[in-house]
Order: sequence, then C-alpha cells, then structure tokens
Amino acid sequence: MLKGDFILRRRIENRVILYQNERMTVAEEIIRNRKSVYPRFFTDQPVSDSDIWQLLEAANWAPTHRMTEPWRFIVLQGEKKDALGDVLASAYKEQVGASGFSERKFQSKKQKAVQSSAVLAIILQRDPEERLPEWEELAALSAAVQNLWIMASSLGLGGYWSSPKAITGRHEFFSLPEGQTCYGLFYLGHHNMPEVPRERSSIQSKVQWWK
Ligand SMILES: Cc1cc2nc3c(=O)[nH]c(=O)nc-3n(C[C@H](O)[C@H](O)[C@H](O)COP(=O)(O)O)c2cc1C
Repeated sequence: MLKGDFILRRRIENRVILYQNERMTVAEEIIRNRKSVYPRFFTDQPVSDSDIWQLLEAANWAPTHRMTEPWRFIVLQGEKKDALGDVLASAYKEQVGASGFSERKFQSKKQKAVQSSAVLAIILQRDPEERLPEWEELAALSAAVQNLWIMASSLGLGGYWSSPKAITGRHEFFSLPEGQTCYGLFYLGHHNMPEVPRERSSIQSKVQWWK
C-alpha cells in the first residue's frame, strides 16, 4: 500500500462526523442508518446486478467459526420472485381459513414480492460434519445478513429481513438439498421511504459491567 493510501484510509476510518447534532464516527453512522424499509416504499427502479453482487460480497465477509461460511442465498427476480409471492399468499389463505381471511393481507403477501426488485432467500448450510453447534452457524448467517443489510443501506437501497412461517424451514419452493434450511427472505429495492423516528431502549439497561 502506498503511504498516501494509508493516510487516506486512516483519515476515513477515524473521521468523526456531525449527525443529527451528535458526534459519530463513520461506522456509527452506517450502523445507525440501517433500517427496515418495506416493499410498499419501493420504486420501480431496478437494482442492478452489480449492486446485488456488492451486497452478497459484503455478506461473504461475515465472521465464521471454523470457516464453515454457512451462508447461502438464492436471488429471485422476475417470474420466480412473483411466484414466491403467490406461494406466500396461498399459504396465508390456507393457514387462516375462510373465517379469518383478509383480502388486504392476502394481496400484501403477494405484493411484497411484486414490489421488490429482487428477493433474496436467506439459507443456512449446515456443516456436513456438524463440527460446531447449529447456533454458531445461525449466528454467522445473521452476521452475513447484517453485512448485506448495512451494505444495502449504504448504497441507498432499501430492504428488510422477513421471516414468514410459510417459507421458514426446509421449504420445497427452493428445492433445498439436505443440510440447507431457509431462514427467511430479504426484500430489496430502491425506495422513497420517508425518514421515520427509530428507537431503542437504552443500552445501559441491557448491560452488566463487572469490574
Ligand atoms: C431475524 C429477523 C426476522 C425478522 N422478521 C420480520 C418479519 O417477518 N416481518 C417484519 O415486518 N419484520 C421482520 N424483521 C425486521 C424487524 O421487524 C425490524 O428489524 C425491527 O422492527 C427494527 O427496525 P429496524 O430494522 O428499522 O431497526 C425481522 C428482523 C430480524 C432480525
């Protein structure tokens, strides 16, 4: 690395910015900007393949115990994506029965896929030798999704992790091989969602600090 590059890199890493009257580092800004953006706010602008690859590449740098790299994704676009919406809507209809059926909910299940430029199925590939407990691989998968989500947000894209019962587990829609399980969907699109106030209860209430 050239000396100039190194200095530039250090400057970017350490940059402290002013964001909503708070001093934040770039990392904090990126983390705090990540949010769930729902498909009803997606625009018709397609997300480019290169942007999708950039999200997937970010996912691929998640931490992974014993280097099992257990994250797998299926990118759905076009007819396949819309067919997934139909599956989710039909599953909802079956699940609630005639008495609990709401046409609005039925359409919303369909529309989420239709409104998205792409839907990414989030899949766990279990280590074939089960050298580590499943929770560790789920943790790595979640870290991969967080990377992907943060990258989407920093490219100005919207999306969120959805975990409909109908698709969670070894779902036949994806014809998953033995050892793979679907843990939900990431709906993705360009968006025009207005800024919404977001909240978390204080971190202090969730921490014990033993000195
Ligand atoms: C594992 C996981 C599954 C989720 N499943 C759903 C879901 O099925 N439906 C939904 O509306 N949001 C789902 N979410 C998104 C959360 O509702 C969202 O993260 C939460 O409201 C906080 O908002 P934020 O992401 O904007 O910070 C899921 C999030 C995670 C981490």
